[in-house]
Amino acid sequence: MRSIIERLYREHTAAPDELRTLLAGCDSRNLELINKKARETAQARFGNKVFIRGLIEIGNCCHNDCYYCGIRRSNRNIERYRLDKETILACCREGHALGFRTFVLQGGEDDYLTTERATGIIADIRREFPDSAITLSLGEKSTEAYEAFFRAGANRYLLRHETHNPAHYRQLHPAGMSLSNRLRCLDDLKRIGFQTGTGIMVGSSGQTIDNLVEDILYIAQLRPEMIGIGPFLPHHDTPFGKMPAGNLEQTLLLLSIFRLMHPDALIPSTTALATLTPEGRERGILAGANVVMPNLSPPQQRSKYALYDNKASMGAEAAEGLRLLQARLEKIGYTIDMGRGDYRLI
Ligand code: 5AD
Repeated sequence: MRSIIERLYREHTAAPDELRTLLAGCDSRNLELINKKARETAQARFGNKVFIRGLIEIGNCCHNDCYYCGIRRSNRNIERYRLDKETILACCREGHALGFRTFVLQGGEDDYLTTERATGIIADIRREFPDSAITLSLGEKSTEAYEAFFRAGANRYLLRHETHNPAHYRQLHPAGMSLSNRLRCLDDLKRIGFQTGTGIMVGSSGQTIDNLVEDILYIAQLRPEMIGIGPFLPHHDTPFGKMPAGNLEQTLLLLSIFRLMHPDALIPSTTALATLTPEGRERGILAGANVVMPNLSPPQQRSKYALYDNKASMGAEAAEGLRLLQARLEKIGYTIDMGRGDYRLI
C-alpha cells in the first residue's frame, strides 16, 4: 500500500491493479498518508491558497430525470424557478464587490434557456466583468451551442461524466440519456478550448471498485483542468431517496488519488462533502482539494436548488459568509486566493 502511494506521489500514476488495491483496502493510517502526500503536492503548486468561485444557481428546471437528483423532471414537490438575466448580473455584481473573479452559472437542462438566451447572458457578464472567468455548468448541449457559449466569452465548463461504465450509467440515468453523448460533450468542450471539468459522485448506487478504477483511468486520459468529486447524498423525493450516502473516507481517498495524478488540476472541496460532515470542507482541502465554491444565488432561491437533502448553502457555504470561510480556512493553515485561478502548468 505504501509503495503504491509513494509511486502516485513521485510518478503521478498507478496501474489498474494498484488502484484496485488502494480502493479496496486503504486503512486509516494509509488514508492519512495519502492525504498528506496529496496536500504536499497541492501546496507545492498552489501554496496554502484556496481559490474561490461564486456559484450562481440560475434555475432548477430540468428535462432530465436522473434517478439521484432532486431537481429531476419527475419531482413534483419542488418549486421551480429561473433567474432572469438582470438577476444573474446582480449576483455577479455582488460577487465581484466581494472579490470573486470567477462566476459559475449552474442550472438544470432547461429548454427555455436557448443558445440565444444563454449567449446573451454570457456576453453581458463578459462585457461588465472583463477581468473575471465565466464557468458554465448547464449540462449536455450541442456542439454548436458549446461553440456559441465559448465565442460569447465563457472560459470554463463543468460536466461530470458521473461514471465511465455504460451499465452503471444506465443504473443512474433513464433511457434516453447515454454515456456516449456525455463523453461527446466532454470531447467537444476540450476541443473548443474550454478549461473543462468532469468528475463523479462517490458511492452512487451500484458503483463498484472496478467502476471507480475505470473513472480514474478515463480522467487520466481526458486530463481535465478541473475534477469535481463529492459523495452521493440521497434526496427523499427521488428513486434513490433511501440509498445510503457516499462514504467520507472513500471520498477523501479519491480526492487524494486525483490530486496525486493531476498535480495542477483545480479540485473543489464540494458542497456535498461539506454537507456530509461538519468539517467536510476542511477535510477535502487537507486531502488535496484547492477550490471552494460559495453560493452566490439569491438567498430566497437557494433552498429550491436541492440536488440532495440538507444541502448546505449558508454560513461558510454562502458568498456573504466569506469572512467565516476565511476564518475556518485559517484554522487549518490556508487562506483565500482572490485571483481568477486559471489552470496552468507550472
Ligand atoms: N448527491 C450528490 N451529488 C449530486 N449531484 C446531483 N445529485 C446529487 C446527489 N443526490 C451532482 C451530480 C451533478 C452535479 C451538478 O451534482 O454529480 O453532476
